Amino acid sequence: MTLPIDVPLQLPEPRTPDPHDAPAIRWGVLAPGGIAHAFADAVAVGTSSSVVAVGSRSRERAQDFADEFSVPRAYGSYEELVADPEVDAIYVASPHSEHRDHALLALEAGKPVLVEKAFTRSAAEAREVLAAAESQNLLVVEAMWSRFLPHYDVVRHVVETGLIGELVAVFADHGQRLYPGGPARLSQPELAGGALLDLGVYPVSFADLVLGAPSAVTATGTLTDLGVDATTTITVTGAGGAHGVLSCTMAAVTPVTAVVAGTLARLELSGAFYGPGSTIRLVGPDNEVIDERPGGLTEDVRGFSYEAAEFARCLVAGETESPLLPHATTLRVMETMDAVRRQVGVVYPGE
Ligand SMILES: NC(=O)c1ccc[n+]([C@@H]2O[C@H](COP(=O)([O-])OP(=O)(O)OC[C@H]3O[C@@H](n4cnc5c(N)ncnc54)[C@H](OP(=O)(O)O)[C@@H]3O)[C@@H](O)[C@H]2O)c1
Repeated sequence: MTLPIDVPLQLPEPRTPDPHDAPAIRWGVLAPGGIAHAFADAVAVGTSSSVVAVGSRSRERAQDFADEFSVPRAYGSYEELVADPEVDAIYVASPHSEHRDHALLALEAGKPVLVEKAFTRSAAEAREVLAAAESQNLLVVEAMWSRFLPHYDVVRHVVETGLIGELVAVFADHGQRLYPGGPARLSQPELAGGALLDLGVYPVSFADLVLGAPSAVTATGTLTDLGVDATTTITVTGAGGAHGVLSCTMAAVTPVTAVVAGTLARLELSGAFYGPGSTIRLVGPDNEVIDERPGGLTEDVRGFSYEAAEFARCLVAGETESPLLPHATTLRVMETMDAVRRQVGVVYPGE
């Protein structure tokens, strides 16, 4: 690799468009739980699109959501939602265990679909969804929202241009105190709970962004009484030989930082590295801060606005996948997590 000796060491500007500039589409929200509320707010505040329908297993919950976000149509079933001809795309916000079925339900009704992370329980399920989308020529995107944020574009650009030299290692952790005592969704094997699919997917996806396809994956984990992972540590080896050291836990709060170390300099993403509040620092070999981009959002945009805008842009452009998060990447992340689960011994009932 040729090192960019004539390029000044400074962070590039993100190339991310303003989410308000993306085309307007009509969203249908499938499963109005916690994250669906954040998504509806992000669409309303930060994009020109709108949520026009919501579907819940309960008519009452759908109506409550509709009232909160001024959504015109509330359905007491997902089937009615996906059949709505005035809906352009479905946002699937159910637990991991249900993503495959709900994504297929939308696709079979001819609807493009944005599927919450983790995309499915397993790579096999991801392949089913992607095959259905391909056969219908419909857009499918994994709602790994970080991939569409401006600071991830800075990381992408730095890696593409070799600004920090040859890649040596990536470190990323994601720990939140969500177990015991947190949402049932995280502790229940039936709902594909555990730290990996909920929290670990961020470090795994980040390492994939930086290192590409792993040539090797090793993992060790501590399981709960019910057999989902509470804490998992992963190493990946990138195709170029760089290492990724990744961890996740739902039993403790960790710094949630990421570092990309190269032979010339390193990137440090502080705060929740995967969110829009993260500050990126370019740090030199003597630990000097060379450049810094503070995180944060303006009042008229939310973190999820960027994924919603990118989806709308792809949909109107007639694309079937986002170039920022291609299907091959979504599948590879699921394959990496399958490899981790095999080693730590997590099997979900019914997968
Ligand atoms: N992007 C992010 O930052 C972020 C953050 C948190 C979670 N997530 C992801 O979003 C998804 C949902 O998480 P959440 O925290 O919003 O979950 P949640 O609050 O439990 O909501 C999930 C909703 O799914 C519906 N549902 C359908 N089948 C279900 C079943 N068998 N059991 C329970 N609920 C079922 C329920 O709505 P109805 O019964 O009303 O239809 C429920 O309200 C997960 O994939 C998670 O990883 C993403």
